[in-house]
Amino acid sequence: MQDIAIFGAGGFGREILTLIQDVNRVSPVWNVVGFFDDGYPKGEIINGFETLGTCEDLNAWEKPLAITLAIGTPHIKKNILSRITNPRVSFPTLIHPSVLIGDRDFVEIGKGCIICAANIITTNIEIGNFVILNLACTTGHDTVIKDYAAFMPTCNISGEVVIEEGVYCGTGVKIINRTSIGANTIVGAGAVVAKPLPPNCTAVGVPAKPIKFREA
Ligand SMILES: CC(C)(COP(=O)(O)OP(=O)(O)OC[C@H]1O[C@@H](n2cnc3c(N)ncnc32)[C@H](O)[C@@H]1OP(=O)(O)O)[C@@H](O)C(=O)NCCC(=O)NCCS
Repeated sequence: MQDIAIFGAGGFGREILTLIQDVNRVSPVWNVVGFFDDGYPKGEIINGFETLGTCEDLNAWEKPLAITLAIGTPHIKKNILSRITNPRVSFPTLIHPSVLIGDRDFVEIGKGCIICAANIITTNIEIGNFVILNLACTTGHDTVIKDYAAFMPTCNISGEVVIEEGVYCGTGVKIINRTSIGANTIVGAGAVVAKPLPPNCTAVGVPAKPIKFREA
């Protein structure tokens, strides 16, 4: 069994713990050593596992350790990742045993991703690194999802969609086929993306329209 720790001891971190336990029920792969989190004191017990400290403590860890980043917000996840400098740390992709992948020969998934229970991913799909597909999302044919993108529960990504780096889609977002979402754009819960969305904005509604822009 390989040692693994969850970075992020909040609610999503506890959900990822259950994902790992479900993986282990099918085939024992992971030995959970605990949680890291910059915001929790060392030595607390969360759902039976210890908090092991901050990013600094992780950088001082002396044995090989797999880390899963249970952090939903792309730019926060990217920032934490840039501070992890320990060469003993690796970033596996975790896929819940219930996930349905249509054709594994034509679905590429990078490192450090989290694919939660009840996802369906069909075929000819590229998923980059550190992508999160939270519970019960669907991803259709010929879609590209770039690094750090995060989809909250029950998003539906139709076919031939391009999701650029760092996109965040709230719960229940629906993305119509052949559309795209620009880098670092946030799409509010329940939105329907019917036309391509530009980068660095927040878009909400049906159809989704930008309501705010940020500096790149
Ligand atoms: C869009 C979102 C990111 C908020 O962005 P924000 O920049 O903080 O925006 P604000 O809260 O200031 O809201 C701006 C306006 O958009 C509206 N709005 C916010 N979220 C909206 C949504 N999902 N759909 C429609 N309108 C929304 C607000 O009511 C407000 O309207 P007003 O100007 O008429 O008062 C947030 O509301 C959201 O949907 N987050 C996703 C949460 C989620 O899915 N979490 C999953 C956890 S597992």
